[in-house]
Amino acid sequence: MSILITGGAGYIGSHTCIELLEAGFNIVVADNLCNSSREALKRVEKLTNKTIPFYPVDVRNQKAMTDVFKAHTIEAVIHFAGLKSVGQSTQMPRTYYDNNVIGTLKLIEVMEQFDVRHLVFSSSATVYGDPSTVPITEDMPTGATTNPYGRSKYIVEEMLKDISIADDKWNFTILRYFNPVGAHKSGQIGEDPKGIPNNLVPFIAQVAVGKREQLSVFGDDYDTKDGTGVRDYIHIVDLAEGHVAALKTHRQDSGLHIYNLGSGTGSSVLEMLKAFEKSCGKTLPHAIQPRRPGDIAECYADPAFAQKALNWKATHTIEAMTDDTWRWQSGNPNGYES
Ligand code: NAD
Ligand code: WQD
Repeated sequence: MSILITGGAGYIGSHTCIELLEAGFNIVVADNLCNSSREALKRVEKLTNKTIPFYPVDVRNQKAMTDVFKAHTIEAVIHFAGLKSVGQSTQMPRTYYDNNVIGTLKLIEVMEQFDVRHLVFSSSATVYGDPSTVPITEDMPTGATTNPYGRSKYIVEEMLKDISIADDKWNFTILRYFNPVGAHKSGQIGEDPKGIPNNLVPFIAQVAVGKREQLSVFGDDYDTKDGTGVRDYIHIVDLAEGHVAALKTHRQDSGLHIYNLGSGTGSSVLEMLKAFEKSCGKTLPHAIQPRRPGDIAECYADPAFAQKALNWKATHTIEAMTDDTWRWQSGNPNGYES
């Protein structure tokens, strides 16, 4: 029996592959490599000393996906495959709905054909929009999303709810990630954004390694501890372990389960910058710029429900997140192309 990992060559997928293999699961990866590199999986194989069956396929290609299900006995699917750039989604909404929404629907159809009913879905804290209070619990309102990417995640969540109501054989787990950062301790795998990074920590890392001149801090006039945006950064290995915990907890279940995967701690942009400066031993140039449209002041999880139900907890500190990012970035200044 194997776990099928769609998008397994990507940032979160590759780290989750390591944790699954180390927990004794067999895995199979399907990824069209539109935002990742085959090299990531080769490094996972080296680190774990295991071979990963890999299929360079698009999840929307039902014929190719059927062949994957025919070749392996799949027990469950962790569905990472999707597009994730907020800015790009506003320029190319059809592409985002097609990949993220239709892609999930097509995957579910193939799963049903093979009577594979266990799906773990990568959702996002973005489904909460601008929350009225923090910390955010799973029962807080969702749907007031501010961009097509966020809406694609919200639509899939609603779709999974409806499907599980109509057919109680389905076993869906929705994981709402907060802000994943960091890299594997080995420094061999990490986040490798194409082009200019949209997210804070990859941008800081590229300033530290000399690829970008300075960090733009988007706004210092929010009603937060130091005026800059506050987020719940979660170490990628904690996040990956959350998937293993969710998979194990709900292995024999049915129905729909929703969890926040966050650390429960809010950190500001300036706090992250300071932590990174300590990790790399340099002062990093930055300039205060206007707020980024669509940003919210503060967002962090109440992770209590996931801690209790999944017997899982994020344990890595901010320092570990920036130390590990720096180890990866300094050792691989050009990512997997180094
Ligand atoms: P990523 O881009 O590194 O990984 C996604 C992977 O999916 C890539 O390897 C890409 O090549 C693959 N892919 C995309 N479309 C595909 C398709 N149609 N068929 C096959 N493969 C396809 O992104 P990530 O950060 O690892 O994110 C994984 C998932 O988690 C995504 O669904 C993303 O929306 C979600 N998520 C990410 C974050 C974050 O900040 N990184 C936060 C919340 C949710
Ligand atoms: C964090 C903070 C910025 C870059 C996004 C998506 C979300 C999820 C995670 C996928 C904010 C500030 C950033 C920079 C800055 N992804 N910042 N200068 O916006 O919380 O979430 O990624 O699901 O859906 O929206 O993350 O890392 O972009 O920003 O000052 O160059 O850093 O304003 O306060 P965000 P982020």
